[in-house]
Amino acid sequence: FQLPEIDNEPVKQYAPGSPERRQLRAELARQLEIVPDIPLIIGGKEIRTDDQKKVVCPHDHAKTLAVFSNAGKQEVDMAIKAALDAKKQWETTPWQDRAAIFLKAADLISQKYTYLLNAATMLGQSKNPFQAEIDATCELADFFRFNAKYMAGIYAGQPASEKGVWNRLEYRALEGFVFALTPFNFTAIAGNLCGAPAIMGNTVVWKPASTAVLSGYYIMQILAEAGLPDGVINFVPGKGSVVGESVLHHPELAGIHFTGSTNVFKTVWKTMGNNIDTYKSYPRMVGETGGKDYIFVHPSARVAPVVTAAVRGAFEYQGQKCSAASRMYVPASLWDEVTTGIKSAVEQITVGNVTEFRHFMNALIDEAAFDNAAGYIERAKTSDVAEILVGGNADKSKGYFIDPTVIVTTDPHYESMTREIFGPVLTLFKYEDTAIDDAVALVGNTSPYALTGAVFATDRQAIHDLTNALVHTAGNFYINDKPTGAVVGHQPFGGARASGTNDKAGSMLNLLRWTSVRTIKENF
Ligand code: SER
Repeated sequence: FQLPEIDNEPVKQYAPGSPERRQLRAELARQLEIVPDIPLIIGGKEIRTDDQKKVVCPHDHAKTLAVFSNAGKQEVDMAIKAALDAKKQWETTPWQDRAAIFLKAADLISQKYTYLLNAATMLGQSKNPFQAEIDATCELADFFRFNAKYMAGIYAGQPASEKGVWNRLEYRALEGFVFALTPFNFTAIAGNLCGAPAIMGNTVVWKPASTAVLSGYYIMQILAEAGLPDGVINFVPGKGSVVGESVLHHPELAGIHFTGSTNVFKTVWKTMGNNIDTYKSYPRMVGETGGKDYIFVHPSARVAPVVTAAVRGAFEYQGQKCSAASRMYVPASLWDEVTTGIKSAVEQITVGNVTEFRHFMNALIDEAAFDNAAGYIERAKTSDVAEILVGGNADKSKGYFIDPTVIVTTDPHYESMTREIFGPVLTLFKYEDTAIDDAVALVGNTSPYALTGAVFATDRQAIHDLTNALVHTAGNFYINDKPTGAVVGHQPFGGARASGTNDKAGSMLNLLRWTSVRTIKENF
């Protein structure tokens, strides 16, 4: 069998007056009128509990978008059982049939449910229309389609056989179930953390972020409509400690597919280390965690693209990307031009409600995210080594809004240069052109993370030297581009050090983690 040709989903532009804009507006209005009561979905059955929670609009936190059931221990145990029960049939389903379900789901996302998913991602996760489109429609469809292609590529890999012998590799699913713990910031990542293990024949217990239950629920419905059998993915929103208690102590835990904070991943890893004697296999650990992503400007850089990269890299989606540009090293020779450019670009940015369609920036996801980012800004205002270049206002009275904020510091170890903030805060540090090697060393020495990084230079030798010197500072390294916006099939995504296991979402490398190969040798 040959798969159909796999391409990236085209991006709709939502131009004023366009039919797509009208349809999205109509869907937003519809979703603002209803309050779905979202169940757990276990073995295909909808289950509700008394522990009811709300999804609210980050831009208007008095507005309830949906209510949902939190899972208790009993439901989590049911979800594990449902995943294990569904496993036998699913892992023996021919891979072409598994691929067909995900290819069909991608088409449903693209053709039938794009406005549903985009509107849910806009309202629930505070993305503007364009950001919702490239996430909930394009990247999600891309993950499902490219995973099918990579799976087929993996299965085609077979060893040589000497005369009278047939050697073959059987790409088994892992034994047991996979636990997917997914973040709020990308609907696509949530879908992929479940979809990648599932397409490889695994069954999944899925705990979505509580703030992204709405878009997650719609993904479940789309996959069911595409024909995913009951129990292959089991949807259990809940408290991490409650869900984790059952899942991480279960002998059949076969793997974790995680995107979230470094601390949570380390806690999960430690718990699993303590439980290692409980498990039948060594569970696979695949995690994409934090970042403190940099832009390093070489004296030979052109300033205009640096300014664009800084503003887009730091402030798109309010900086709530693990890839967001959050620290920047600027040579003294370009300092005035770069800071003037960034300041005037940031002053043009408007912050507001997603349904108004015209704002580059919207609200942060919740109060904890708001308080954390606002704290860095407040401390910078009274610091001896930092000051605010532009921005600095924050208001959570109606929604969780923070202005795009640029801090400049004279201390390369200052807290906002070294700690992940996950909010709209970019910090700049000026280095002397004569001390470029010291500045390069700071990139790797002042942060434990190594997710994304960007260098700007026109000098070819400098590009070569920076690429070598910064080798372990980023899993996604961009030359003359912003450090965000990896595209499935083009820039496989992931970092090392404290940023994760670098199993590259959107590539064959990730899918390889979800198979446990049996080598078979037969003599004739
Ligand atoms: N994949 C996203 C990016 O590249 C982050 O998760 O920005």
